Amino acid sequence: MAQIFSISIDFNGTTYSFPCSSDQTVLMGAETAGIELPSSCCSGLCTTCASKLHEGKVYQPDAMGIKADLSNEGYALLCVAYPLSDLKLEANQEDALYEAQFGQYQK
Ligand code: FES
Repeated sequence: MAQIFSISIDFNGTTYSFPCSSDQTVLMGAETAGIELPSSCCSGLCTTCASKLHEGKVYQPDAMGIKADLSNEGYALLCVAYPLSDLKLEANQEDALYEAQFGQYQK
């Protein structure tokens, strides 16, 4: 049976809290609660929905736009991330993720 987790996400200086079922992506949970977070492809590729996890764990096997080690560091693609626990997150991490993934190739 699906579990319901509490999600708290910082986005543009505001902290939003909403419930998210374990069979729902975090992005879907936010949408259901009327919170519009950045998203585009909704299939784990473009990284528009990138966020950083400060607490909790997600399951995101389809997060192809993110390297495994960065996923282990807490980067999550919310359109394909299912909560495994209550979460504390920071949205709008597309640039930070890009820098973490590709920054070293540009210096
Ligand atoms: S919206 Fe494109 S990776 Fe999530």
